[in-house]
Amino acid sequence: VEAARAALARLVLDVPDFPEPGIVFKDITPLLADHAGLTAVVAALAEAGRDAEGNVVVDKVLGMEARGFILAAPVALALGIGFVPVRKVGKLPRETHAVSYALEYGEATLELHRDAVAPGERVLLVDDVLATGGTVKATRELVEACGGSAHAVAVLMELGFLPGRETVGDLPVTTLMTV
Ligand code: PRP
Ligand code: MG
Repeated sequence: VEAARAALARLVLDVPDFPEPGIVFKDITPLLADHAGLTAVVAALAEAGRDAEGNVVVDKVLGMEARGFILAAPVALALGIGFVPVRKVGKLPRETHAVSYALEYGEATLELHRDAVAPGERVLLVDDVLATGGTVKATRELVEACGGSAHAVAVLMELGFLPGRETVGDLPVTTLMTV
């Protein structure tokens, strides 16, 4: 975890005024491009899917489109389990569950294939950033609609000035950096 935190501190770049004036964008692409850094953060995120003895306690890793995909698939490989995509509306070809949630302006809808999580399965949610928590909350609802349960959420970064953790409720959150 210390190696992961050090990699984040060094390789996540602040980009002022992107995508609009006043917003400081956290650019993770230098971290993704660094093999040692990427290895360290994937290993640290994967810990959220293990118990204190190191046993894997989840059945699937879910990643939220788009940036969650980049991290969730290698985390699934690290845990020796499968990866499941949670997609923006209209992208999944078979029967889905869908959940809509409010954004600062407007609304977003996420979808999950109905058979992607089996009843009783426990899943780890992986994304790059926890901001308002809306994405995680919606994803948890999708998992529960399938009859599964969210075990934990693991993200690279948490925006400490937003109520993400409150929105997420009793779901344990692993964060490698708070900004
Ligand atoms: C960003 C980020 C998280 C989400 C966090 O995704 O990658 O998924 O916002 O915000 P929240 O906690 O307020 O829901 P976004 O949909 O902006 O873009 P992406 O497709 O590049 O991942
Ligand atoms: Mg995202």
